[in-house]
Amino acid sequence: MPRMMLPTATLLLVVPLATARAIDIQPKAGAPLAGLTTAQLELFWAGHEAYSTPITVAGGLGPIMNKSNCISCHTNPIGGWGSIAVNHYGIEKKGEFMLLPGETQSLLQTLAVSPLCAEVVPEDATVFIQRITNSSLAFGLIEAIPDASIAANADATDANADGISGRVHWVNLLEDPTGPLRAGRFGWKAQVASTLSFSGDAARNEMGLTNALVPGENAPNGNASILTECDSVADPEDAPDSEGFRFIDRVTHFQRYLAQPPQTPKSGMTGEAVFNAIGCNACHIRDWTTSNSPSLEDAIRNKAIKPYSDFLLHNMGGLGDGVQQGDADESEMRTPVLWNLRTRDPMLHHGAAAGGTFATRVTKAIELHGPFGEGAASAAAFMALGGTQKAQLIAFLGSLGKLEFDLDPDNQVDAFDFTLFQPCFANGAASPDTNCGVADFNQDGLINMVDADAFMQAYEGAEGTGDCDRDGQIDLMEILLGAPDADSDFIPDDCVGCQADFNGDGHRDGVDLGILLAGWGTAAADANGDGVTDGVDLGILLAGWGTCG
Ligand code: HEC
Ligand code: HEC
Repeated sequence: MPRMMLPTATLLLVVPLATARAIDIQPKAGAPLAGLTTAQLELFWAGHEAYSTPITVAGGLGPIMNKSNCISCHTNPIGGWGSIAVNHYGIEKKGEFMLLPGETQSLLQTLAVSPLCAEVVPEDATVFIQRITNSSLAFGLIEAIPDASIAANADATDANADGISGRVHWVNLLEDPTGPLRAGRFGWKAQVASTLSFSGDAARNEMGLTNALVPGENAPNGNASILTECDSVADPEDAPDSEGFRFIDRVTHFQRYLAQPPQTPKSGMTGEAVFNAIGCNACHIRDWTTSNSPSLEDAIRNKAIKPYSDFLLHNMGGLGDGVQQGDADESEMRTPVLWNLRTRDPMLHHGAAAGGTFATRVTKAIELHGPFGEGAASAAAFMALGGTQKAQLIAFLGSLGKLEFDLDPDNQVDAFDFTLFQPCFANGAASPDTNCGVADFNQDGLINMVDADAFMQAYEGAEGTGDCDRDGQIDLMEILLGAPDADSDFIPDDCVGCQADFNGDGHRDGVDLGILLAGWGTAAADANGDGVTDGVDLGILLAGWGTCG
C-alpha cells in the first residue's frame, strides 16, 4: 500500500501518479510486510487487535501475571521493543544457576488477581536479574530461516580459532514437543524456535492465559494448592473464536506479518566496513535468506533479510545474565538482531546501556561486550578506534531503523524533509556517508528523477500534494523541478493565475462555474487541491474571473 495518502481528488485527476509503477519504499517499523494478500492483511490487523486488547480475569487473566496484554511491554512500535523488564530469580551454587526448591520456573510474576495468590521473591534467592522486552518485528521472516543456515555458522569448539564459538540452542517446539529439535532463535537465550511457541509461552507466563501449548496454570512460587482459591476459569483458558482462531494464533499472525524495519542508506556506509573490520559481523551477521518452501506465504518465502544476528549462543563473560535456561548456560547469550537499533532504549538484556544519546548508548553497549568473553576482542578494537571511525560506525548503527528520505530524521517523511531533499536534488550526487545519502533511493550515487519519484511515493505530508495547474504533476514535484515558491506554501507561485480553469480552456467563466456547482462537495472542481469542492474554490474562481494569465 503506498504510504502517501493523496486525497481521492488528486488520485482521480493526476493520471501519471495513479498509474505510476509501484516503487518499493521500505515499510516503517511496525507496518505489515509488503505483498501480503487482503486475507493476510486482515489477519494482521485482527492479530494487532488481540495483541493490544487487555485480557479480563473472566477471560483467563492470572491468577499471577505481569501485565494484561502484550502491548503493555512491546510498545516501540507495537510488536517491537520496550523498556519494561521482567525479573528472574533463583539461587547460585558453585557458579551454577538453580531454581529454588519447589519452584517450577525462574520468571517472577509481579501481579496477582488476589493477594492470596501473589508471588514473592523468596528470601533465600541469591540471583535476581532483569530482562528487557525485546522485539517481535519480522518474526515470520526470522522464523523462516532454515535451521541448517543457522547451524552453518556454529563453531562450538572454535575450530577456526578466532575467539568466537557460537552454538545453536536446539529446542523443542511447544506445538510439536516430540518432534525434531529446532534451532532456537527467539528470546535473549535463543530459547524458542517458533512464533507460536513464544506466543503460547508469553500468554501463560506474562498474562496467566493457559492455552493449548501451555495448558497448566502457573502456581505462585510453585504452590499449586492455592490455585483453586484464585483461579476459577477452566484450563486451557484460551478458546477458539468464531473464526476458529485462538488468542495465541491471532497474536502469532500479527507478529509473523510484521515487516522488517527499514535501513537507510541500504548499504555502502563506511561505518559498516568498520563494523566488519573490528569483527562485529562475526556474530552480528547481516545477510540471510528465508526458506523457499511452498508452504510459506509469498511475502515471507525466499526473501533476503538483514537482521545482523547469527541467532547463536555466545559466552559473553560478564555480560551473561547468570541464568541457566534450557541448554543455555549462565554466561551464554544469543546475539540480538540489530535492525531498528536506532530507536532502542535501553539496550542489552539488563538495559545497562540506557538514556543519553544514541551515540552514548551504543558506545556503552559495545564497551560492555568486554573485557571477558567472546565479544571482548571486538569491544577492545572498538575502543582503540580513532574518533572519525567511531563516528562512522555509530552513524552506520544509526541507519538501522531509519526511514527512506527521512533526512531530519524524525520517522516521518514530511514537508521539512522536502526542504532538505531540494538541495540534495540540486546537487545531484550523494555518498552514503552524507546526509543526502538517505535520499539516494536506488543507491547509484546520484540524486535524480528516480529518487525524486520515490520521494513523492514516500512523502507523508499533506503540503504540496495538490496539482494546482492540473498538468498531471503534483505541486511538490513542480517545485522540486524549479517552479518558484517564494512564499513556501508548497504551491508554485506562478500557478495561482490559472487556478479554477476547470475545463482548461484558458478562461474562467460560466462553464467553469457550472462544473464547480455540479461538483460541489465532491472532489470534481477542487481549485486549491484540498480534496473538496467548496466555497474556497468558488472564491478562487470568482476572484480570477476572466481570461487566464
Ligand atoms: C511484562 C512484559 C511482557 C509482556 C506482557 C509480554 N512480553 Fe513478550 N517479552 C518480554 C520480555 C522481557 C521478553 C524477553 C524474554 C526473554 O528472552 O527472556 C519478551 C520476548 C518476547 C518474544 C521474543 C522476542 C525476541 O526478539 O526474541 C516474543 C515473540 C514475545 N515476547 C511475544 C509476546 C506476546 C505474544 C505477548 C502477549 C501474549 C507478550 N510477549 C507479552 C516482555 C513481555
Ligand atoms: C561474540 C559475539 C558478538 C560480537 C563479536 C559482537 N556482539 Fe554485539 N551482542 C552480542 C550479544 C550476545 C549481545 C547481547 C548481550 C546481552 O545483552 O546480554 C549483543 C548486543 C549488542 C548490542 C545491543 C543490542 C540490543 O538489542 O540490546 C549492540 C548495539 C551490539 N551488540 C553491537 C555490537 C557491535 C557494534 C559490535 C562490534 C564492536 C558487536 N556488537 C560485537 C554478541 C556479539
